[in-house]
Amino acid sequence: MADAKSETQSSNQMWGGRFASGPDAIMEEINASIDFDKKLYAQDIRGSMAHATMLAHQGIISAEDKNQIVAGLETILKEIEDGTFAFSRKLEDIHMNVEARLAALVGPAAGRLHTARSRNDQVALDFRLWVKEELQKTERMLSALIAAFLDRAEEHADTVMPGFTHLQTAQPVTFGHHCMAYVEMFGRDRQRVRHAIEHLDESPIGAAALAGTGFPIDRHMTAKALGFREPTRNSIDTVSDRDFALEFLSIAAIAATHLSRLAEEIVIWSTPQFGFIRLSDAFSTGSSIMPQKKNPDAAELVRAKTGRINGSLVALLTVMKGLPLAYSKDMQEDKEQVFDAAESLELALAAMTGMVRDMTVRADRMKAAAGSGYSTATDLADWLVREAGLPFRDAHHVTGRAVALAEQKGCDLAELSLQDLQAINPAITDKVYGVLTVEASVASRTSFGGTAPENVRQQIAWWRARN
Ligand code: ARG
Repeated sequence: MADAKSETQSSNQMWGGRFASGPDAIMEEINASIDFDKKLYAQDIRGSMAHATMLAHQGIISAEDKNQIVAGLETILKEIEDGTFAFSRKLEDIHMNVEARLAALVGPAAGRLHTARSRNDQVALDFRLWVKEELQKTERMLSALIAAFLDRAEEHADTVMPGFTHLQTAQPVTFGHHCMAYVEMFGRDRQRVRHAIEHLDESPIGAAALAGTGFPIDRHMTAKALGFREPTRNSIDTVSDRDFALEFLSIAAIAATHLSRLAEEIVIWSTPQFGFIRLSDAFSTGSSIMPQKKNPDAAELVRAKTGRINGSLVALLTVMKGLPLAYSKDMQEDKEQVFDAAESLELALAAMTGMVRDMTVRADRMKAAAGSGYSTATDLADWLVREAGLPFRDAHHVTGRAVALAEQKGCDLAELSLQDLQAINPAITDKVYGVLTVEASVASRTSFGGTAPENVRQQIAWWRARN
């Protein structure tokens, strides 16, 4: 790369005045990716070692050159990890930074490393390896969150809380069942992660610039050495493809959306008005002016991170949209989106796992709320169907009248006298009181997937065997 020219030499007559520096410096500014793609150093070095080893095995370079290359790359790895490596923006990206240093370390042998390879397949390889590792990490973090929920669900399989629709009290459920709803959501996220790992498990190296190479390389050998199932099958697609990054971002966006719903519930539950949970000091903050406040900042930030992650997905989809095959420099804009989303998702998962493990569940508050809002009205209607033989629509109507009467009297359904209930429908007997408690309500919901504590325990066992 040429050095930036001085302003007088290079400022363009037409538009130079607008810029403080000459076009070469601007070119360097827009072109260089080293500031962010240095994150790929370990993958880049690993890929180069596998490539050099294969080149030597195939007789394309000598064993001596290969040994020098590998030794040089080991030195570079150590330099980067020790923080002594001097990254240069003039050398654009991680690939050229490593190669230039290799040349300084081992001389002419370094120049043979790039045989039968291009930065196009090199970057596709490095980034794929990085995303694969990130997906594996995400899988482990999702498992940890699921484990936290399974423990809380087990502890609270019998704890009754109001179930909501439209955030209005609907029917009593158990807190264990509610926790298991999140286990299902994060379990699906984990399945998506596993599928994405399968999808990306093909090695791009050897596709070269876009057309493959005339050198007798062995792509199966490099694929195996780098832990991929097999090499990719089409060299043009290989250097054009960023589906693995888009899949990672889609999965991250869906998982973050799940996390935001949980975050929102935590915010609501921890208000004094709800009081269903108390957050630990570790995951809340105080107010600088109002001494009584305990704010759910971590939950709020998780809720907000979703915006960033969704933004990254839309940004990369937009970068890739309409790109002609094969590689275009636009694709260099893939990394920051993925790195930022990965960092946000990791933080959000870690914070949520901590909050779920640490929060105090206030079973008394949940139970009191579960009984309010005529939450067992459906149980009364079901009883009328079962015991009095009413069609459900009629039972619904009768129950509606009972709710209206209770509302008028300012009491719960279970507090209406038998006389009152029989005035609405004479078929009602005192047995009805057995179904009007919240405990009886949840215990009766034994249909597969229902909220009955015994069901919840079965679901926990099912998930424990898979976590
Ligand atoms: N830094 C580039 C990127 O991230 C590497 C590939 C460059 N290839 C090229 N033909 N200029 O996409």
